Amino acid sequence: MISSNSSERLELIVPAGCHTYSKGRDQFPFPAPGLIERGQGAYIYDVDGNRYVDYGMGLRSVTLGHCHPYVLKSVKAQLDKGSNFTRPSTIELDLAEEIIDLIPAAEMVKFAKNGSDVTAAAVRLARAYTGRKYIVVCGEDPFYSFYDWFIGSTPCNSGIPQEIAQLTLKFHYNNISSLQTLVDQHPGDIAAVIMEPLSDRFQPEDDFLRHLRALTEKEGIVLIFDEIITGFRYDLRGAQNLIGISPDLCTFGKGCANGFSVSMLCGRREIMELGGLCHDKPRVFLLSGTHGAEAHGLAAALATIRFMRREPVIEHMWTYGRLMMEAFNKISSEYGLDRRLTMVGYPCSPRLKALGVDARVSYELLTIFQSRMINQGILSPWIAISYSHDDETLDITIKAFKIALEECRKAIDNPPLSQHYIGEPIKPVWRKFNADFG
Ligand SMILES: Cc1ncc(COP(=O)(O)O)c(C=O)c1O
Repeated sequence: MISSNSSERLELIVPAGCHTYSKGRDQFPFPAPGLIERGQGAYIYDVDGNRYVDYGMGLRSVTLGHCHPYVLKSVKAQLDKGSNFTRPSTIELDLAEEIIDLIPAAEMVKFAKNGSDVTAAAVRLARAYTGRKYIVVCGEDPFYSFYDWFIGSTPCNSGIPQEIAQLTLKFHYNNISSLQTLVDQHPGDIAAVIMEPLSDRFQPEDDFLRHLRALTEKEGIVLIFDEIITGFRYDLRGAQNLIGISPDLCTFGKGCANGFSVSMLCGRREIMELGGLCHDKPRVFLLSGTHGAEAHGLAAALATIRFMRREPVIEHMWTYGRLMMEAFNKISSEYGLDRRLTMVGYPCSPRLKALGVDARVSYELLTIFQSRMINQGILSPWIAISYSHDDETLDITIKAFKIALEECRKAIDNPPLSQHYIGEPIKPVWRKFNADFG
């Protein structure tokens, strides 16, 4: 059930009624808003005029806030000059130089529109550079790309030939021997390891990342850091700067252009140049899209990054998140829920963890919690803090935590949980059939 029938009309003509599965109605409980009309700062407004504190922030892409004036001014100025030309534009040079200056591992950079594009490009480049076929991904990372090389390795692999799917293998975070085993099983045939260097799921232990870098170097495997979430959030120069480890290639997207569509593939010149014109090796058809250098998107990225270099944006995300996590975990503990509902991860990117008595993810408990947050005007399918979230939003959020957690306590004390929410519970995106988990 959704609050506005407009979203039902959308679903009749757009598969899943949205353009990324994370926005689908199966990801939100009643009474989640249907269609969003506009956003301003840390707030969004639905078609019925309801206001919500937004923690989704355009799938974490809006890091400064909706309609941020500094970014919009640059975008509007660029729009007056044009959006796409016959030869590269000056803004491509300006942004490329900014990125090379900012990101430690970036000797060259190439722009695209989606994170999926640049992770797929990184994989192709790694295969071309090494002449090998296998790609190893971190089994705990949820997502890198909507292209076949990755989706083939998920439960939603319909439409992807087994021959492609079997080329993607999985290792486990903090378990270097799981990677060593794959290296031993496929000697000289692993092109790349791709992973999020840090995430809200783990903290690296026992010098894991250093061992991983050493192993990939020793085996001639291209190490790709997917920084599409960590970039421009954990650290302005990427998580690679925070951990002091340099990948061969790295990808950025969400967060670099305040919601405008820009992603970036960066890395070592020797590898990146294979997509260039200055070598006599076989040409790698790297990223070559009509819209790859859309000028006002790049203007948004340049403005966002320059603003972040000037203002304490990253610091703000860490501080706000720390206060939020402390408040949540304190209230949860006061209700005796500290084994069922906790806020975990790095403060700049906290994650709500809802567990059942069996210590597995409880989508029902999550549904109850989220529905109570929505009742109080907060949309928090995940937590993306922006520079526009402030004392007021924090105050509203903490008050809402108290009510939502109290209701979760009551629901747990009065089973079954299903009588405490309306309609369907939230479902995992990664399910083979729509009816699974239902
Ligand atoms: C870690 C990570 N990598 C890659 C992607 C793909 O990015 P996009 O949705 O822009 O294609 C995502 C998107 O959620 C992501 O979280």
